Amino acid sequence: MNILILGSGGRECALAWKISQSPLCSQLFIAPGNGGTKEYGTNIDLSVTDFTGIAEFSLKNNIEMIVVGPEDPLVLGIVDYFLSTPQLSGIKIIGPDKRAAMLEGSKAFAKQFMQKHGIPTATYKTFHSGQTELAKEFLQSMKPPYVIKADGLAAGKGVLICQTIEEAYDAVETILVKRIFGDAGNSLVIEEFLHGIEMSAFLLTDGNSFLMLPEAKDYKRIGNHDTGPNTGGMGTISPVPFAGAEFMEKVRQQIAEPTLRGIIEEGMHYCGFIFVGLMNVDGEPKVIEYNVRLGDPETQSVLPRIQNDLTDLLLAASNHQLHEKQIKISPETIVNIVLASNGYPGSYEKDFPITLPQAEKHRMVFHAGTKINESGFITSGGRVLTACGTGHNLETAIENAYTLAREIHFKNKYFRSDIGQDLLKYIQ
Ligand SMILES: Nc1ncnc2c1ncn2[C@@H]1O[C@H](COP(=O)(O)OP(=O)(O)O)[C@@H](O)[C@H]1O
Ligand SMILES: [Mg+2]
Repeated sequence: MNILILGSGGRECALAWKISQSPLCSQLFIAPGNGGTKEYGTNIDLSVTDFTGIAEFSLKNNIEMIVVGPEDPLVLGIVDYFLSTPQLSGIKIIGPDKRAAMLEGSKAFAKQFMQKHGIPTATYKTFHSGQTELAKEFLQSMKPPYVIKADGLAAGKGVLICQTIEEAYDAVETILVKRIFGDAGNSLVIEEFLHGIEMSAFLLTDGNSFLMLPEAKDYKRIGNHDTGPNTGGMGTISPVPFAGAEFMEKVRQQIAEPTLRGIIEEGMHYCGFIFVGLMNVDGEPKVIEYNVRLGDPETQSVLPRIQNDLTDLLLAASNHQLHEKQIKISPETIVNIVLASNGYPGSYEKDFPITLPQAEKHRMVFHAGTKINESGFITSGGRVLTACGTGHNLETAIENAYTLAREIHFKNKYFRSDIGQDLLKYIQ
């Protein structure tokens, strides 16, 4: 089977690594890919939102399966486009349709879905442009900190957490009146602040049944001890020590099962991954958000723990046969350290040569912002590489990941030095 992966980050590099191992995969293409994905397939210079370009390429190269990495093409309806175009409808496409993608594309839609289907989440209310005063009134009924979310996709910047009511009023104005998020701020959600510790659960569904993939925790802030601005993610760990079997069973029963029931009841077409952002509030899971695809960098810690042939699982999902499959998860711990260009998430320099150490059994490297020129790999983005360490426990995995992170060299390399440290206390 010829397979096309859409995307260019660390997530897509990990998908390419895993999918290329399958005997079911003949030729693998990645559009547009990065320096590292070339090791597993052929990079194709196509944008992930160029639907007609992707369609032409797929027909010409006998692509039988497309795995959509990022959210943009899903929210724009790539799955609907393929399903509704006769020559393309035979191609298996991994991702939800446009309506199901609103679970990520609209915070208000997702909250309404959760409320309707009895899925535990923070209490909330939605406000539209012209309702600034009503939103402010509602804020007065809430306790600080105040959580205000622009409704639409805002590249991870649309959530404002305010300590005082004045800041919260400002946040409402900024979104609804000043419109700093553009149309993504046509509406906003104000919700209860959840006190707890965050993690993510991952599902693969065929629209009828689902498999629970390994869970993960990521580190979003740029600085040690969760300080400084938010980033796309600076590190990730799987398994999550504070999410034991009992907690994950609650996630299955209270969140995963009703989510799937909701998808079925609403007649959504969903063959793909569901990422559930969760808060563990005193042992009870509550949903912070849905993403309709895998996360980056979480994927780099989730996929290495899956012992199944992922291509086989994706094929089963697209044939509505996922109920016949069982997931096999490695008990090992995976720790990922993101190596970034100094300055990220602000401005940074790029085009620096990268030296990579030899691959070894307990470690590997996933690429994100890299390119290849005549002399080898060079940096081309904010998040450059992920150093991935494996171990029989968290401590060993941390050590393996950091040893690798220090052996990778490029100018202006920056990484957090505390990934996983906060979780050691949960391990007896
Ligand atoms: N209700 C809430 N209580 C506490 N923290 C929250 C809440 N909602 C969001 N957050 C924090 O804000 C972050 C971003 O919110 P999220 O809904 O995941 O938006 P996005 O990922 O689209 O920016 C979360 O990862 C979490 O740390
Ligand atoms: Mg989030």
